[in-house]
Amino acid sequence: TRVAVVFGGRSSEHTISCVSGGSVLSHLDRERFEVVPVGITPEGGWVLGKGDTSALEMSGRNLPTVRSLGELAPIEPSHALADVDVVFPVLHGAWGEDGTIQGLLELTALPYVGPGVLASAMAMDKAFAKRVLQAAGLPVGTFSVLDRRQETLSLDERDRLGLPVFVKPARAGSSVGISKVKDWADLDAAIAHARETDPKVIIEAAVTGREIECGVLEFPDGRVEASLPAELRIVGEGVDWYDFDAKYLDDVCEFDIPAKLDDETARQLREMAVTAFHALDCQGLSRVDFFVTDGGELVINEINTMPGFTPISMYPRMWAETGVDYTTLLTTLIDTALA
Ligand code: DAL
Ligand code: MG
Repeated sequence: TRVAVVFGGRSSEHTISCVSGGSVLSHLDRERFEVVPVGITPEGGWVLGKGDTSALEMSGRNLPTVRSLGELAPIEPSHALADVDVVFPVLHGAWGEDGTIQGLLELTALPYVGPGVLASAMAMDKAFAKRVLQAAGLPVGTFSVLDRRQETLSLDERDRLGLPVFVKPARAGSSVGISKVKDWADLDAAIAHARETDPKVIIEAAVTGREIECGVLEFPDGRVEASLPAELRIVGEGVDWYDFDAKYLDDVCEFDIPAKLDDETARQLREMAVTAFHALDCQGLSRVDFFVTDGGELVINEINTMPGFTPISMYPRMWAETGVDYTTLLTTLIDTALA
């Protein structure tokens, strides 16, 4: 079976996608799969990787790009994907995790790993995702949306949300473009910052509680299961929340895999993760991120349809703890795509 692993891309998560892609490439079962590495540059050019892709590994604080692979000749997408049986788009963020590459693959009738066009697009847009989750009866926090025509939040909306708030680009990931605002005087600067990534902005009331994530995986027979949940805690001095640097660059997070939750909370959370997966009509995989409040209430923060696959990423680590090691996880995802 020939698998194209597509990584990089035009989004603000280009570098993280390269690390995820490199990790997927190094863990794929080479006895079962013939691998075609396909990079997309930040400008949207496609290149075919060859042989050694270890340059995609992270080294210290240095994040790779598609260019880390050296000079590669440009190739048309249709040529890059010719003679491929299945595509694994390890793309995070816009132009990849948002239904766009899924659309291209649908047009060319190529099977691929992960949710389809609509599910990917909905999950990518934090505003749409929350509305759909809410409509399915799932708990989401208080939020407000600024579309491209709205400059700032009304006083009524500020009162409704209360401080602090998180100001986020509606469509982004890895915490890119996000600020925590503790004083309304800082709101407009935070909106401007988010708008460098997306003209549409979502403003969320901060939820006080523990951060718990849960992986959802579809098996080739159609079963959809939730992994053991994991907790992440920020332990670094002066680090306030799980931002990009905390996620990938600074050694300031502690992980409990599995999370220390009572059985009933863990059961509810896993069930809710699967419900969220179906609410957005996902396929293949997703990672659902929760808060568990001090009162024990569950709140869904977001759902990621192509969660990080870096060596330190939660999704593969949670599945490993649940009994599905990284290589088996990749094989399962590809078999499900082909089923
Ligand atoms: N957006 C990053 C890659 C994640 O969700 O893990
Ligand atoms: Mg995300």
